Amino acid sequence: MSDATLPADESTAVKETGFITAVIRAGESERADAYLVDPYATLLGTPRSTALAREALAAGGTVGSVIVRARFGDLALGRAVAGGITQVVCLAAGGDTRAWRLGLPAHTRFYEVDLPGQLEAKESLLAPVRDRLVCRRLTLGADLRDADWPRRLQALGHEPDAPTVWIVEGLLPYLRMEEFTRLISRVRAASGRGSVLLIDAPHSAFYDDPANAEFLAFMRARGSAFRLGLDDFAGFLRPLGWQAEAYTLRQLAAGACGWLPAPPGRLCPPRDHHWVARARLA
Ligand SMILES: C[S@@+](CC[C@H](N)C(=O)[O-])C[C@H]1O[C@@H](n2cnc3c(N)ncnc32)[C@H](O)[C@@H]1O
Repeated sequence: MSDATLPADESTAVKETGFITAVIRAGESERADAYLVDPYATLLGTPRSTALAREALAAGGTVGSVIVRARFGDLALGRAVAGGITQVVCLAAGGDTRAWRLGLPAHTRFYEVDLPGQLEAKESLLAPVRDRLVCRRLTLGADLRDADWPRRLQALGHEPDAPTVWIVEGLLPYLRMEEFTRLISRVRAASGRGSVLLIDAPHSAFYDDPANAEFLAFMRARGSAFRLGLDDFAGFLRPLGWQAEAYTLRQLAAGACGWLPAPPGRLCPPRDHHWVARARLA
């Protein structure tokens, strides 16, 4: 990593990962055989986030988990909204552009939560496509390790007794196990009947695979260390109140999820040990 791209502090380092993933989605979108098309991700590629993404990929960062969870989430979210759910909460939203690009109905309330300052930065980069935002987007700057974000979300209009589509992508690697379990329990407590949770996490094997050692060292050195991995995602979510269909990337590539077009092998290499899940209230 060059000194020029070393972040100032841990919070900055973690927030910057939200734009690294956007640059990865922009790269995928430009391919002739793109599995995911996120046309507005290009707008989030500042010189700094583009340089960071280049460094992360050179260190062995994986593309597949970012792209596959996004397509999985797009399809699952579309089905849930078509089924009548009118509130969506995207936790650790970072450079997520779904509120702009999915053409969600105007009556959909799309809440985004991330560390303070993050969502304002995205909004200004997406100013050129401001007119594509049809649904009602509401934002909250909060640390999701704290206890008060559900109350603050409610103050913005979120109804905990009504069904919600929750999106939690790319967050868990940065949490500790106890923070993760508390977060998922808080999400459960703020979920009305019919709610859906779309979530991903590294598999424990990600940390044991020597092919990922350089990337893990890179993330640690820049202050955004990966920490959390899980052996059995569905089994982990069950006691927290969620009944999940969970797939590894390799299972998805083999066509294990009936409603998702199987991702190509290039997005599911053996070393990208990763879970993607859709869960409902148990
Ligand atoms: C790898 S990015 C993922 C962003 C987006 N969900 C995606 O899939 O591209 C991680 C995001 O989690 C946010 N984040 C990390 N820790 C957080 C915390 N404790 N509270 C709120 N947001 C957090 C970061 O600011 C960053 O935007």
